[in-house]
Amino acid sequence: MKRIGILTRDCAGINACIRAIVRTADSYGIETVGIFRGYEGLINGETKIFDRRSVSGIINTGGTILKTARSKRFMTEEGQLKALQTIKNNNLDGLIVIGGNGSLTAAHLLASKYGIKVIGVPATIDNDINGVDFCVGADTAVNVALDALDKIRDTADSLERIFVVEVMGRDCGYIALRVALAGGCEEVLVPERDFDIEEICEAITEGNVRGKISWIIIVAEGKAHASDVAAKITEITELETRIVVLGHIQRGGRPTAGDRILAARYASMAVEMLKDGQTDKCVALRNMDFIELPLEEAIKPKDMEVETYYRLIKVLT
Ligand code: F6P
Repeated sequence: MKRIGILTRDCAGINACIRAIVRTADSYGIETVGIFRGYEGLINGETKIFDRRSVSGIINTGGTILKTARSKRFMTEEGQLKALQTIKNNNLDGLIVIGGNGSLTAAHLLASKYGIKVIGVPATIDNDINGVDFCVGADTAVNVALDALDKIRDTADSLERIFVVEVMGRDCGYIALRVALAGGCEEVLVPERDFDIEEICEAITEGNVRGKISWIIIVAEGKAHASDVAAKITEITELETRIVVLGHIQRGGRPTAGDRILAARYASMAVEMLKDGQTDKCVALRNMDFIELPLEEAIKPKDMEVETYYRLIKVLT
């Protein structure tokens, strides 16, 4: 193994991961090549040779110095063949792909269909990689949302108001459930679970009679819009509501210590796996142990323990 390529999506902790890959590889005498704009850049041949100094000063920054993009072209055979050409032109003996389900699915395709040596690093704020307890970026996203929520609660409590807070998660309620539990929220609406707005309003009205006026309802963006939920609550209960949409602040920002440390552990393990000739796998933290996981397993749907979280949130509120 003389030269490896690095390709990423974006979330907090990915720069720390790139840094650790470049420097671990260097310690083994392996050269690294950054591939810009994800699979689009792999198709277009947007590459740059990295050295230890190329990754200075990025351990504490969000986003990805490699930029990223969604790639419809990589779904086509024509796109895939162009990507293979870039791998060949750059003499890449292997690839490390850092990202979520989409990125790892494409990594599995490169390994299984074309025989490219690929190791994945799970990194997504949705934390929805099967068999992996923690993906890089998830801890930062939950903490960013929680920090905002704690501030919102100050006003919710002081003014005795109902707040509906929208967090990220198109198909997945991970951030919503973690934030609702950590923030002591009254209700949470997630894509994996149906909800009954009449029932929620009944609980708000009953609480109101008992003197409980402030409520915080977390909504994952994939389930409903905060504005629609808030309007419906006001219509039914005749109580005032306010909304906050947190949006992409959750995907960026300074990575937590947990995410930086996880990124470093995953990165060094990924380099070692490639060096040992492994492929079509990803690194994973499971039950406090760092393990190697087939990509085929990692891209299957994950049980997000939605009911367990939901029950606990309702018991503790
Ligand atoms: O998969 C991560 C994620 O941030 C989801 O939580 C979110 O719904 C989606 O990506 C948003 O994607 P984009 O930034 O491309 O709109």
